[in-house]
Amino acid sequence: MNKQDVVAVVLGGPSSEAEISRVTGGAIAAALREKGYNAKEVELVPDRLIAQLHAMNAKVVFNAVHGKYGEDGRLQSILEAAGIPYTGCGVLASAVAMDKSATKRFLQSAGVATPRCLIINKREAGDLAAIRAHIMEAIGLPVVIKAATQGSSIGVTIVKEAEGIEAAIADAFTYSDNVLAEECIKGKELTVALMEEKGEVKPLPVIWIAPHSGAYDFHSKYTKGATDYHCPAPLDEATTKHVQDLALATYHVLGLSGVARVDVMLDEKGQGYVLEANTIPGMTPTSLVPKAAAAVGIAFPDLCERILLSAK
Ligand SMILES: Nc1ncnc2c1ncn2[C@@H]1O[C@H](COP(=O)(O)OP(=O)(O)O)[C@@H](O)[C@H]1O
Ligand SMILES: [Mg+2]
Repeated sequence: MNKQDVVAVVLGGPSSEAEISRVTGGAIAAALREKGYNAKEVELVPDRLIAQLHAMNAKVVFNAVHGKYGEDGRLQSILEAAGIPYTGCGVLASAVAMDKSATKRFLQSAGVATPRCLIINKREAGDLAAIRAHIMEAIGLPVVIKAATQGSSIGVTIVKEAEGIEAAIADAFTYSDNVLAEECIKGKELTVALMEEKGEVKPLPVIWIAPHSGAYDFHSKYTKGATDYHCPAPLDEATTKHVQDLALATYHVLGLSGVARVDVMLDEKGQGYVLEANTIPGMTPTSLVPKAAAAVGIAFPDLCERILLSAK
């Protein structure tokens, strides 16, 4: 591409994460302009997007939309239909990664380590007492109950007593028709960013996430200073490689593209378990992917340029 070509940084939209997306998108557009690109922010209005992109003669879309549309395959399919190249994952990979129950099935069928889990559908919700008994037998306590299609730790409860299972499931059903009851992994919470460049995918250094409260919930994620992030994580070489290999396997099994982040829990024996993949990770200068890139000497504007150049 040419540096005069218009790059549309699409952000915002109708998702509950629109505000964070605007911060991510604004930072990306500013960074690309700093690198000499003709980048323009475009607020996502789904039924007007293509007309808008044509009107501004956009050659490529930098997708900065978190959650609904940007992360679930809808934006990707609108752009595919219009023949406009875009950064990040395609339609199917986005849709699968957005749904933790679909992700789980992909990982399990490929033999990628992920916590043991039961998937409960809303049509079974009438008999929560039976479901509770099933969870106690198949998973045990503590158990992590979570909605299949939510982010930011919303709709996630770590249940320590059997009596709490039904309320946690009922809460998770308010967000999504499928709910996961997952084995709780005790140990370190890690995340691995992966970058695609010239068709090759490489994991960046592992980040260890250490929330002061002990739980990586909404507060720990979005309150300044509530969580310490260590990059590279203080792990021995073999464990680092094990965790990066799990992230890489997840990337390939889900068919991801561009930059993505895979969350991994590492238990006390050093075995990693994949929780989920994030296909539109936060990209403010203080977000996790830029932190991991900085650890290998890639500055934020360079990171944004590399992502842009991986658009297809
Ligand atoms: N199986 C699990 N074992 C231990 N902790 C978990 C497990 N699943 C989720 N958690 C905790 O809950 C947080 C949010 O869960 P996650 O599956 O990553 O959903 P999201 O980030 O999309 O809300 C994780 O970052 C982790 O701290
Ligand atoms: Mg997560």
